[in-house]
Amino acid sequence: MTFRTIIEPFRIKTVEPIRQTSRAERASALAEARYNVFLLQAEDVLIDLLTDSGTGAMSVYQWSGMMKGDESYAGGRSYAAFERTVRDITGFAHVVPTHQGRAAEHILFSTVVRRGDVVPNNTHFDTTRANVQDRGGVALDLPIAEGHQPQSAHPFKGNMDVAALERTLADNRGRVPLVMLTITNNSEGGQPVSLANVRAVRQVCERFGVPLFIDACRFAENAWFIKTREEGYADHTPLAIARELFALADGCTMSAKKDGMSNIGGFLAMNDGELARQCRTRLVLTEGFPTYGGLAGYDLEAIAVGLREALDEDYLRYRIRSIEYLGEKLLAAGIPIITPTGGHALYLDAKRWLPHIPQSEFPAWALSCVLYVEGGIRAAEIGSVMFGRQPDGTERPADLELVRLAFPRRVYTQSHVDYVAEVLLYVNSLVSRIRGVRIVEAPEVLRHFTATFAPAHEALIAS
Ligand SMILES: Cc1ncc(COP(=O)(O)O)c(C=O)c1O
Repeated sequence: MTFRTIIEPFRIKTVEPIRQTSRAERASALAEARYNVFLLQAEDVLIDLLTDSGTGAMSVYQWSGMMKGDESYAGGRSYAAFERTVRDITGFAHVVPTHQGRAAEHILFSTVVRRGDVVPNNTHFDTTRANVQDRGGVALDLPIAEGHQPQSAHPFKGNMDVAALERTLADNRGRVPLVMLTITNNSEGGQPVSLANVRAVRQVCERFGVPLFIDACRFAENAWFIKTREEGYADHTPLAIARELFALADGCTMSAKKDGMSNIGGFLAMNDGELARQCRTRLVLTEGFPTYGGLAGYDLEAIAVGLREALDEDYLRYRIRSIEYLGEKLLAAGIPIITPTGGHALYLDAKRWLPHIPQSEFPAWALSCVLYVEGGIRAAEIGSVMFGRQPDGTERPADLELVRLAFPRRVYTQSHVDYVAEVLLYVNSLVSRIRGVRIVEAPEVLRHFTATFAPAHEALIAS
C-alpha cells in the first residue's frame, strides 16, 4: 500500500516556543514599528513568513558537522569539505566562500561591471539589482511575458525571454559583462526556470561570447520543478538535474541561507581562473581569507551538509507540496494568488485582491500590515515599495503588487499552514475595508527594510 499523505520528513527534537498575542497588542506593535513589519520585534510575530532566508531549521547532521568546525585561519579542513561539496554539485573549479549571497554579488559585480554596462537577468532580485546599479550598471529584467501574468499556468514562468536577450546582446556589444539567470525566479513569484530555457540562454551567450552566471539560491527547488514538470526528467535525481543545469553556466552566486539550509553563508563559484583570482583579491579586502570568506569554519561545515540535504527528494516533495496545499485552499476561497504556486513561497496578488487601493498607496504593503494585525503573520511586500523608486529618484509603480509568504525550511508543520489559511480567509472577509499607506521616511536604496509608513487615510482598516 502506498499512502498518499505527504508528511514532514523529520521529527522534532528541539522546539522553539512561539507566543500568541492579542489583536490590540499587535495593532500597537505595528504602530510602534511605523507600519513596517521589518521593524517589528520577532517575538511579537506568531508565524514568521517574512523570508525563507537564513530562517530554516538545521538537521542533527548539520549540528554535528558544526562540532567538527576547523577554525584555522587558512587552509582549514572545513573549507576543504565545503569546497568539495560545492564542486561536486556545481562542477565549478573555483569556490569563493562569502558571508551571504549579496557579498558574492558585490564581489562579482564590482569585479566585472563598469559604468554604463548592461546586466540582463530573467528578473533581478533586489540585492542583485542594487549591486549592479551601485556599479553604475543597468540591471535589465528579461522575463518571459507569462512571468508577468499572475494567472498564467505556464510551468516555467521564471524563464528568460531568449529573443529579448538576443536583441539586448546585439544592441549592447561590449557592454554586457555577464548574463544572469535567477533560479527559481524569486521576484516573479518563486517560479522555476526550465533546463530547455537555460540551454537556449547558454547558446545565445556563447554566440555573443558573454559568460552566463546562475543566481543559484534555490537551485534544489528549481531542480524539483524540472523533475516534476519538464519532459524527460521524471527519473532523474535532483542532484543529476542540478549538475546538468550548472554545467550550462560559467559560474554562480549563491546564498546558502536558502538551499544551503544554513542560517548564514554564501559563495561565488566559477570556471575562469583569472576572474577567480580577481574576486579573491576583493574577498580579502571585504570578507576575509579565501578559505573562510567571512564565515566560521563551523558555518562551512553546516553548508556542506545542508547543500546535500536540500536535494533530498522526500524533503523537496514535502516542501513544495506544503505551499501548493496552502495555494489550493486560497484558490478555493477565491483569493487571488500567483499560480502555479512557487518553490519557497506563496504570493498573494494584491493588485487583484485590493483593486480599490491605488498603487501610489502601496496595496501590497497595506496587506502585509493587515496580515500581521489580524493573525500575527509576518510577510513581505514585493511591489512598489520594493521596486518603485528608480535610480534617478522618480517613482514608477511596480508591474506586480505581491505579498510573499515565504516558508522557512523545515520550520512549520501542516497545522501552521492550516492556521495561515484560516487567517487569510478571514482577511478575505474584510478586504474591501482595507485602506492604503503612505511613506513617511525612506532611505535611497533598499527602502523596504527601514522605511517608515502611516495609514494614507484615517485607519488601515475602515470601520
Ligand atoms: C534570488 C536571490 N538572490 C540573492 C539573494 C541575496 O542573498 P542574501 O540574502 O544571502 O544576501 C536573495 C535573498 O533573498 C535571493 O532571493
